[in-house]
Order: sequence, then C-alpha cells, then structure tokens
Amino acid sequence: MKVIHTISELQKEISSLKSEGKTIGLVPTMGALHQGHISLVRRCVDENDVCVVSIFVNPTQFNDKNDFLHYPHTFKDDRELLNENGCSIIFAPSEQEMYPQPDTRVFDFGLLDKVMEGKFRPGHFNGVAQIVSKLFDAVTPDKAYFGTKDFQQSVVIKAMVKQLNYPVKIIECPIVREPDGLAMSSRNMRLTFNQRQIAVKISQALNKSRNFAAEKPISEIIDRVTNEINSEPMLKVEYFDIVDGNTLMPVTDWNDSDYIVGCIAVFCGEVRLIDNIVYKESVI
Ligand code: PAF
Repeated sequence: MKVIHTISELQKEISSLKSEGKTIGLVPTMGALHQGHISLVRRCVDENDVCVVSIFVNPTQFNDKNDFLHYPHTFKDDRELLNENGCSIIFAPSEQEMYPQPDTRVFDFGLLDKVMEGKFRPGHFNGVAQIVSKLFDAVTPDKAYFGTKDFQQSVVIKAMVKQLNYPVKIIECPIVREPDGLAMSSRNMRLTFNQRQIAVKISQALNKSRNFAAEKPISEIIDRVTNEINSEPMLKVEYFDIVDGNTLMPVTDWNDSDYIVGCIAVFCGEVRLIDNIVYKESVI
C-alpha cells in the first residue's frame, strides 16, 4: 500500500496503472475510519484492480468551525486498517494541495441541497461537491463508493456527476450498524458512555416506525418518531423528514412515490447524528 500526499504523484501513479489496463475505484473519506468505511473499501477492492482511499478533512463542507476543529484525526489507525483491508493507495493531501486557491465554484443542485441537511448546514453540499469533484479530477476513478448513511449526500453527488459528465459510476453502499442498531459514524467516537447508550434510541424509533408506517398517515409517523426520540432528555431531533428518495421532496401520502425514505438528524448532547430508513424501495 502506498501513501501519496500530492496530486502530481498520484496522477503519475494512476496513469501508469491505467496504462496497464487496471481499473480504479475510489473511496472518499475524511478519515477516522470505522467498519462502515471498511465495508466500502472491501467492496471497492472486490470490484476494481486498484482501490484508492482518500483521507482529507475538507474545510469547505463544514459550516460550523467547531465541528471542523473537533473532527477526529486518527491517521495511524486508519493506515493500519486500510492496509489490512486491501487498499492499494491512500491519498492524504494537505489543505494547501487541495485548495491552493479558494474554491469559488457555486453548484446549482436546485432543491436537492436546500432541504434537510442543506437547510441546517448551508453551504455543506457545495463544499462536498467542490472536494468530490477535485478528488474525481485527481483520481479519475471508474467507480466511487459512498455510504447511504449520508443519504442526501449520495443524491447530491449523483446530480453532480450528471451535471459535470463525470465518467464515474457511483456505487451506493448500505448503512453499517453497531450490534445494537446505531448507525456507524466517525462522530460516535465523541459520544460519552451515557450518550452512546441513549443514541441507539434513534435507530430503534426509526425501525419501530416501519412496523406501522403503512397504516398511518405520514404526518403521524413524523410526530411519533420525533416525540419518541425527544422524550429522551439527552436527545433533540433537528429534523425528521419523509421524502421521495430521488427528488428529496417531502411526501405527504404513501402513494406519492414508489421510493420513500425517512431522514433524521438528532443532537445527542453536542454531537449531531444522522440516520435514515427506507420505507418504500425504489423499483429502479
Ligand atoms: O462523507 C464524507 O466523509 C465526506 O463528505 C466526503 C464524501 C469524503 C467528502 O469530504
């Protein structure tokens, strides 16, 4: 496994691999890797000749400076995990390398980046699109792997790929959960012991709602899930929206779409956690 810090060295390596006919897969990450990331890496290793994992805590996607400052950095552990799981190249650039000049590009994703996360984290998805497009330019992958815990992010990235005509296949991978159901996240590391015990209520409430979703109006599901989670004093729901999985527009009736997803953000103390549940599966 190689560790590369500059775009020029990466490009040299990639073009030599491509000249040998090798296919390239990319797993973009911000480090602090957990088994959710590793599931993406394993799939990338299985489906490509070369698996590149980028580790870069991207400043332009943090609308909250505090969140950026507290983002965990665990490079030594990450490197070991990646080595054990078949990664061929770690691309770990500096901020100066990725942003030699401020990136002033403003993407237009219509409403996709205005709702849910976009409403509470203005500019977040523009920053994600900036860095992911730079990574696609640097790595020129055949396939790129994203976890669906960040459901809205996947939708926005698919829109970006379409807009910019990237010849990259986006592979969306299922959420990986802790044994008790909590969605794996680098942010879970910041939970205290007590917060960690309580955080599981988020996935429990979502799962429970699936059992009675079809018989109840959508507005009732939203109220029930929100109230159940908020009844825990340590938890505070920021939003819980039930949306069309393609357009991300809220649905008000189960017959409004054949692909319906509930997306939630919850503060557990200072730590903001997101999760989602598919109520109705896409037929595509
Ligand atoms: O999902 C993430 O970890 C980040 O948003 C990504 C895609 C690596 C871009 O910085």
